[in-house]
Amino acid sequence: MPSKAEENLPATNEGYGTREYWEQRYTVEGVGHDFDWFLKPDYLLQFFDGLTKDIDVGKDARILILGCGNSSLGEALYDAGWRNLVNIDYSKAVIEQMIERHGETRPQMKWLEMDVLDLKFEQEFDLVVDKATMDAMLTTKGDPWNPPQKDIDMCTKEVDEGLRVLRKQLGSKFVYWSFGQPHFRKRFFINRAGWKYSQKSVGPEDGFEYFQYLLEWEEVVA
Ligand SMILES: C[S@@+](CC[C@H](N)C(=O)[O-])C[C@H]1O[C@@H](n2cnc3c(N)ncnc32)[C@H](O)[C@@H]1O
Repeated sequence: MPSKAEENLPATNEGYGTREYWEQRYTVEGVGHDFDWFLKPDYLLQFFDGLTKDIDVGKDARILILGCGNSSLGEALYDAGWRNLVNIDYSKAVIEQMIERHGETRPQMKWLEMDVLDLKFEQEFDLVVDKATMDAMLTTKGDPWNPPQKDIDMCTKEVDEGLRVLRKQLGSKFVYWSFGQPHFRKRFFINRAGWKYSQKSVGPEDGFEYFQYLLEWEEVVA
């Protein structure tokens, strides 16, 4: 029997790139539903000690999750001790559902309706996380080797915005987990002044290969 998520696919892949699709999908799924796009939180948690180890406040690191959807990553992090969490998504429906689900039991964690391309924050985060959100923005029909300029501009803007709201100090990081191979994704991360780039394969041994893209603040020597 198909799952709720499988029953609710867009008519074409391009649907994943529209706010309308996500809004109706989450409205149909309802408040009790959670779904993680690849790399489940119980696998990903192991990376967060490393991602926050150089941050002087440790587990009080301020973390921003871009395009949270109804993933249980925020909940898993909260329950593991990272409580200074802000989750954003441009779907009003999913944000209302996540507040209803976690507002009372996990009160320090925030849920905000917001576009990742227009973040309403200053330089205040230690870690910015994208899991599968940029992937949803790269679904335009056509040649994936030559994406349309509008998609390139949008993904570049997402990374610009994520880096803008990070504190410019050692330890600050932007991590992106994706199904997209480096050829198609690294262009958005490389050659950014002050930020050291790295990439690696990730994923459980018995599963598919996914990719981690990481930018870490480094002192800029004039
Ligand atoms: C493929 S889902 C990933 C959800 C979650 N991060 C996960 O890993 O399961 C993409 C999510 O990004 C959100 N999204 C896409 N574009 C966005 C944008 N410009 N601003 C905010 N959220 C966006 C969608 O509403 C959706 O919840």
